[in-house]
Amino acid sequence: MSDLEKIEADVLAAVQATGTEKDLEEVRVGALGKKGSISELMKGLGKMTPEERKEMGPALNGLKTRVGDAIAARKAELHEAALEERLATEKVDVTLPVRQTPIEQGRIHPLTQTMDEITAIFCDLGFAVEEGPDIETDYYNFEALNFPEGHPAREMHDTFYFHEREDGTRPLLRTHTSPVQVRTMEKSEPPFRFIAPGRTFRCDSDQTHTPQFHQVEGLVVDRDTHMGHLKWTLEEFLRAYFETEGVEIRFRPSFFPFTEPSMEVDVRCARLGNEIRIGEGDDWLEILGCGMVHPNVLKSANIDPDEFQGFAFGVGIDRLAMLKYGIPDLRAFFETDLRWLRHYGFAALDVPTLAGGLSS
Ligand code: PHE
Repeated sequence: MSDLEKIEADVLAAVQATGTEKDLEEVRVGALGKKGSISELMKGLGKMTPEERKEMGPALNGLKTRVGDAIAARKAELHEAALEERLATEKVDVTLPVRQTPIEQGRIHPLTQTMDEITAIFCDLGFAVEEGPDIETDYYNFEALNFPEGHPAREMHDTFYFHEREDGTRPLLRTHTSPVQVRTMEKSEPPFRFIAPGRTFRCDSDQTHTPQFHQVEGLVVDRDTHMGHLKWTLEEFLRAYFETEGVEIRFRPSFFPFTEPSMEVDVRCARLGNEIRIGEGDDWLEILGCGMVHPNVLKSANIDPDEFQGFAFGVGIDRLAMLKYGIPDLRAFFETDLRWLRHYGFAALDVPTLAGGLSS
């Protein structure tokens, strides 16, 4: 085998042996690059005699062309193989569900959802939203609400007290949202129409009671507000909240120091095993307390009871959430169990509105 034949055989073998386009490029540079083996031989042509050149010129050119062709062919093969491999490994299953972003995965707690729903309904009825502190004074939680010192109704509240302060007062965790009635009325002039949702606390714990729970207070005070307004407002609210026209309520006489007369409200329901259905059946379920604001409460807020009167109501938010969303145990609300939250929670971007649907 002549030297040229040997070089050609070696280069072609090297070309065939390459496995990647990068390897192939190395072989090409080694043979045809500026300092490649074949390029070096071409440089030698200049020093040859015309006879030698006549023979070697075409031989070298032929060699260069054949090696170039072989490299191009191998390059196409490798390119094709690389593409095949990518197609085989980078499979996309278009039938898989779209992966959710963090904001889509996050869940709104059912209590927050319920408060948002309640707020949406009452804002639509023209109510403002007010707030008060969780840590209250005896005055706002009891006294201004017509619970005189030593009144037995105070005992029924299972109040959490703080240690006595130097001035002899004892702050407490509010046992209901009613203190917001007086706090808000003190700040401005009647008429009033607002709700006050928030945290409330009583020393109690079982399947249907937790030491912390939630209420929404409602207060309407004007010159001629009467019980008909109260009944209509509650019916309207409960229909919108339970998203059914079938809601039926009844008033039962009751007692609260801060309302006179006082009533408890029951909704018609059906009990099917553990399930409670609102708006059907022959059973009744107590869901809120209400009444006409006691004149002494108006006086506490410097409002003349001969000129103004109104109604108030207080609803347990946790209870409403359990009823609407079929949540059997109240304690789960406070356990921050992610699996529970994923099951019972709501999409962060589905803000409840009356127009768009409260819970869908
Ligand atoms: N504050 C009362 C409670 O917690 C509920 C209530 C509010 C009753 C307003 C009447 C009027 O039991």
